[in-house]
Amino acid sequence: MTTINNEFDLATLQKQVHYQLSDSRYQHCLRTSERAVQLAKLNHYDLQKAQIAGLVHDYAKERSDADFIAMIKQEKLDPELLNYGNAIWHGVVGAFFIKYELKITDEDILNSVRRHTTGDVRMTTLDKIVFMADYTEPKRDFTGVEQAREITNQDLDAGVAYQLQHTLEFLLQKHSQIYPLTIASYNQWVAQK
Ligand SMILES: [Fe+2]
Ligand SMILES: [Fe+2]
Repeated sequence: MTTINNEFDLATLQKQVHYQLSDSRYQHCLRTSERAVQLAKLNHYDLQKAQIAGLVHDYAKERSDADFIAMIKQEKLDPELLNYGNAIWHGVVGAFFIKYELKITDEDILNSVRRHTTGDVRMTTLDKIVFMADYTEPKRDFTGVEQAREITNQDLDAGVAYQLQHTLEFLLQKHSQIYPLTIASYNQWVAQK
């Protein structure tokens, strides 16, 4: 399935996603999907691809660590990934579950899922849409979320920079381990050169 052409197929995909997730996380996926469509409209991007990518972005979030570790080995992904956890894996590794189980082969969609947890140095419009839809869907309620929504509506790139800056600040405050690509993304999108 590279694209979905009718309501029935979308309903089937929704059921498959719902089956893998708690109801509250599934609802987050639906809201992210709707927000992705909104951002696609604002940025003249394919609405259906944005809708699908938003829907599936957290598909693998509730998989076991053992499932992710097995997939990292099966796909011969960077062994450095083993030093991280679900927060990174559900995007970077989760894309493979989406490809094999949901039969979504569109690399633009799969890449937007891969990049939604880390950002990347280079991001496509769809990457940015999913990254920002996840961060600004209507039930997000962190301090500054209204500002994040407004900035994102005005300028998708500025939204990406906003999220990267605030996520990095948050991780530093918590003394969390930071995935190298997140730092590289910060350097690309936020840091003055
Ligand atoms: Fe996620
Ligand atoms: Fe999410």
